[in-house]
Amino acid sequence: MNIDFKAPVLAVDTVVKRFGKTVAVNGLSLDIRENEFFALLGPSGCGKTTLLRMIAGFEVPDEGRIRLGGIDITEQAPEKRPLNLMFQSYALFPHMTVRQNLAYGLEMERLPKAEITARVEEMLKTTDLQALAERKPAELSGGQKQRVALARALIKRPKVLLLDEPLGALDKKLREKMQLELKRLQNEVGITFIIVTHDQEEALVMADRVAVLKDGSILQCGTPQEVYERPANRFVAGFIGVMNFIEGEIGSDALFRAGGEALACDLEGLKRNATAVLAIRPENIVLKPEGTGIAGTVVDVAYHGLDRQIYVKTPLSPAPLQVRVGATGPGAAAAQTGAAVSLGFDAAACRIFQEGT
Ligand SMILES: Nc1ncnc2c1ncn2[C@@H]1O[C@H](COP(=O)(O)OP(=O)(O)OP(=O)(O)O)[C@@H](O)[C@H]1O
Ligand SMILES: [Mg+2]
Repeated sequence: MNIDFKAPVLAVDTVVKRFGKTVAVNGLSLDIRENEFFALLGPSGCGKTTLLRMIAGFEVPDEGRIRLGGIDITEQAPEKRPLNLMFQSYALFPHMTVRQNLAYGLEMERLPKAEITARVEEMLKTTDLQALAERKPAELSGGQKQRVALARALIKRPKVLLLDEPLGALDKKLREKMQLELKRLQNEVGITFIIVTHDQEEALVMADRVAVLKDGSILQCGTPQEVYERPANRFVAGFIGVMNFIEGEIGSDALFRAGGEALACDLEGLKRNATAVLAIRPENIVLKPEGTGIAGTVVDVAYHGLDRQIYVKTPLSPAPLQVRVGATGPGAAAAQTGAAVSLGFDAAACRIFQEGT
């Protein structure tokens, strides 16, 4: 067989997987590039784990093909594939030390002893586990165990490492630390990572590209910035980050109208005289001098350290709009319940969606 080096490292081609009447993965296609850090993101039950299991070989698709380096692996046995799936429950061997846990996979491959020792040493160093090498899993913290599981997966030098919610068991602080560590590790070892998470912030922090899944299909695939700033549809807009939605309509004058206000936005490709919803993020609504914008009243203030999220009741929508304001300047005066404010929208940051999008 000839390896096609120009092909994406992993290609998922119109794959379908059904479990009885449930369509877990629905004609999904995806190309993953060499050394990419790729995140699969989506609500519970959208098919993330099923997709990973098919890539790893634990499930066979009902339709479609999966190729690795141009070679069809759709029906290949999991152990034959040069990739590694790290499950959420990382199942370290409890009676073995960290060092023995790392060596185990290489011993199974019957590599020469000297090479095993060298690779274990190197991996202990990369994952900052040298000081813990003689400990057993029970003597480690949750985060340390996580690191050992990762080291054990990496040491086999898979072409692609699949990670299913690898940080799911950790508390917030450790999670954030591990996110940066995972990114550093991936950079260092140069392995393609496909990570599943339902934590959107985690995906934005770590990934080169993100795919947002719903009901077994990809709704959008792009860089974190593309997906955050130019969501393709209402679902993605609401799923990633905080978003304000304003229901309204597009008039024949090509303005978006809601609550007696008219806003000029980019309406290209949208229907006139039809209902629409405008989406705007809290950081793209600005405070304006009194009387020059949309009038509102602050009904709630959430303190976030450096800045505040204020909730402003306006005629535009039944739900208050969330607005990000700074701790000083006009933001300070606005960050008080009951304050009267005047709001302006950054037109370039508004996204408008219509039925069917
Ligand atoms: N072995 C199975 N038998 C029957 N149905 C299954 C099986 N595995 C998954 N499903 C169904 O397929 C759909 C996708 O499941 P999957 O585990 O891939 O979701 P997920 O995106 O990983 O969700 P979560 O975020 O909760 O882990 C769900 O409706 C699930 O109930
Ligand atoms: Mg899952």
